[in-house]
Amino acid sequence: MKIRWEKSFTTGIKEIDDQHKEIVLLMGKCLNLDKLGKSEIRQLMKRAEKHFVRHFETEEKIMKQYCYFHLRAHTAQHKKFKKELNDLREILESEGASLRFSMLVGLVMSEWLTDHFRKEDGDFSVFILKRKGSAEVLNN
Ligand SMILES: [Fe+2]
Ligand SMILES: [Fe+2]
Repeated sequence: MKIRWEKSFTTGIKEIDDQHKEIVLLMGKCLNLDKLGKSEIRQLMKRAEKHFVRHFETEEKIMKQYCYFHLRAHTAQHKKFKKELNDLREILESEGASLRFSMLVGLVMSEWLTDHFRKEDGDFSVFILKRKGSAEVLNN
């Protein structure tokens, strides 16, 4: 399975788009695990987790700053994804890079990309950009 950056992922908020681009690169690697050993996969998953945690913190900080009304629901989705990553790590530890593990990684990553990136992050970015626009008008 291949994933690459698509225009439809663009939110218009540079900090978020830059982080999403890094995440898409990492996801692409996570979807092609067949040539990697267990320790390389472990390292890759750790790296992906670190990026996700940092990214979620960035989004949550911006959402708070602009009083986004779906902050709680959005944060709950981030929490759910962190739990899924944690579950994947546990599966990797217990059964190694099994076929089930690779399939679950693919499922979690692609679901996340199509549902959350496009829909939830898209909605919240539109809200922030509108708020920013009104703030600029008020400040001038
Ligand atoms: Fe998000
Ligand atoms: Fe995001």
